[in-house]
Amino acid sequence: MCGIVGYVGAQQANGRALDVVMGGLARLEYRGYDSAGVALVTDDGLATAKKAGKLVNLTEQLEAHPMPPATAGIGHTRWATHGAPNDVNAHPHVSADGRIAVIHNGIIENFATLRAELEAAGTRMTSETDTEVVAHLLGGAFEEVGDLTGAMRSVAKRLHGTFTLLAVHADAPDVVVGTRHDSPLVVGLGEGENFLGSDVAAFIAHTREAMELGQDQVVTITPDDVSVVDFDGAHVEPRRFTVDWDAAAAEKGGFASFMDKEIHDQPHAVADTLLGRTDTSGRLVLDEVRVDEAVLRQIDKIIVIACGTAAYAGQVAKYAIEHWCRIPVEVELAHEFRYRDPVVNSKTLVVAVSQSGETMDTLMAVRHAREQGATVLAIVNTHGSTIPRESDAVLYTHAGPEVAVASTKAFLAQITAAYLLGLYLAQLRGTKFPDEIAQTLDELRELPEKIQAVIDGAGRVREVARSMADASSVLFLGRHVGYPVAMEGALKLKELAYIHAEGFAAGELKHGPIALIEEGQPVFIIVPSPRGRDSLHSKVISNIQEIRARGARTLVIAEEGDTDVLPFADEAFFVPRTPTLLAPLVAVVPLQIFALELATAKGLDVDQPRNLAKSVTVE
Ligand code: AGP
Repeated sequence: MCGIVGYVGAQQANGRALDVVMGGLARLEYRGYDSAGVALVTDDGLATAKKAGKLVNLTEQLEAHPMPPATAGIGHTRWATHGAPNDVNAHPHVSADGRIAVIHNGIIENFATLRAELEAAGTRMTSETDTEVVAHLLGGAFEEVGDLTGAMRSVAKRLHGTFTLLAVHADAPDVVVGTRHDSPLVVGLGEGENFLGSDVAAFIAHTREAMELGQDQVVTITPDDVSVVDFDGAHVEPRRFTVDWDAAAAEKGGFASFMDKEIHDQPHAVADTLLGRTDTSGRLVLDEVRVDEAVLRQIDKIIVIACGTAAYAGQVAKYAIEHWCRIPVEVELAHEFRYRDPVVNSKTLVVAVSQSGETMDTLMAVRHAREQGATVLAIVNTHGSTIPRESDAVLYTHAGPEVAVASTKAFLAQITAAYLLGLYLAQLRGTKFPDEIAQTLDELRELPEKIQAVIDGAGRVREVARSMADASSVLFLGRHVGYPVAMEGALKLKELAYIHAEGFAAGELKHGPIALIEEGQPVFIIVPSPRGRDSLHSKVISNIQEIRARGARTLVIAEEGDTDVLPFADEAFFVPRTPTLLAPLVAVVPLQIFALELATAKGLDVDQPRNLAKSVTVE
């Protein structure tokens, strides 16, 4: 999730490439702010500047060291995936001869193989990034084909994973070349100038005429022309469109809120978190988890420490990790953990889950766990944050920046990363056969499409939410992995709509909470798959009957085809059939959308709810 801008303008545009690129980066900074950089094609060849941290750091650097005027340029704001967010890893990256600069959004899955090939041929890498590999490949391809478009086509065909790439060449002051695969790139059409961007926010200040670039296409822009070919060089005529968003909406991708945008980002967040996790033989390789395998083999307890939504992600993962690894998993609220004198030693693996990587409660728990001799592994979304720095190892999620205070895509990405950890431990300790692990990985890779289906089919959820804008209390019931989903659904509604919402284990209802049920009380029930074990499905159906008999309004989330629920459901929202342990990733989505829509109907600020902060950096 990086921000990408490209510009090329006629000489008479008095070399405003830097202004246009920097202005575009400013609008795209929400896509990543680990570092920023630009490359310009000037009369003296390529000029590059890059700086870790927010865009303002680069701006200050450029004020102190101005770049020469140019008519072609590219710019990048980084959300780190490979390599720490520092000056060296910042984009752009340049070819060995310094003649080509490239910027990248995405994850090159086969970069390690390509990097080894380049190093074996004598190329010296200077950064930890997958993007630098592309820069060197482009340099080599350019020497062979002699033009940047042809070089880009040649290199793009060798890349696996997701990528949007922009490149410029020192000898071509009026050309920018771009390509995409599973990562966004749009063209802005101007008068005597043209633009490229991760999304229209990059150039909406200059033009609303745009062109959509299709999968596996290469675009070449000059001041007066835009040409598009596929990877085989065949000419393509892309779809043109006019942008009718205002600039603020453009930063949200046209969505009304960052939260709605981030709910829609969830398929990518899960897919990107899964990318690049296996070697060519299909074995799991978590190269960031730099913990000695012998240490992981002797672990006899796992304690997950986290807060809020991150804690519910840990609770979901507990079921899977215990089932796959046969290691007991405790899930502790970080702010409770260190005050209860926990039993922790060198055989304990503490997993700290945090989107921001800055939550003070979680950080203090990490410090306590390490003092007690535990190995600490962080599952974090924000590169370079404090918690990974103070942990023994990290497993990054690739959800991209999460701007809305209410966590959605990070939640799904955290669960996905925890599943990967569980499968990795099972592989290491031999508690699952390789083919079982491979099958579960395949089931995980099917999730983005299933999540997308839930998002696309959520019209009725939105309608019901709007009709309940006056609700004062909503209850949520779940069982097994549905129980943390119920609590996460309640938390979303609390923090967005400011109404009473509570999640319960469905089996606990009869031990007290059922007294809350009265005529018309809305209750969400997350129903397990009818194909699941332990007859949980029939028990939850009984729970629904119990509350319906007392007047509850039952809002049921069930698996497609589960007609058993229909007689007892006032509303039934169906989600795609999914293996039980993975089902939370689809079951939670209607609850996220419900909370968003109800809060929106109440006219509340869904991106920045009252009293809350995106990162709670105080204890
Ligand atoms: C979730 O919607 C809330 N924003 C909050 O519970 C959050 O999950 C919690 O504060 C933990 O934040 P972290 O993941 O950044 O550590």
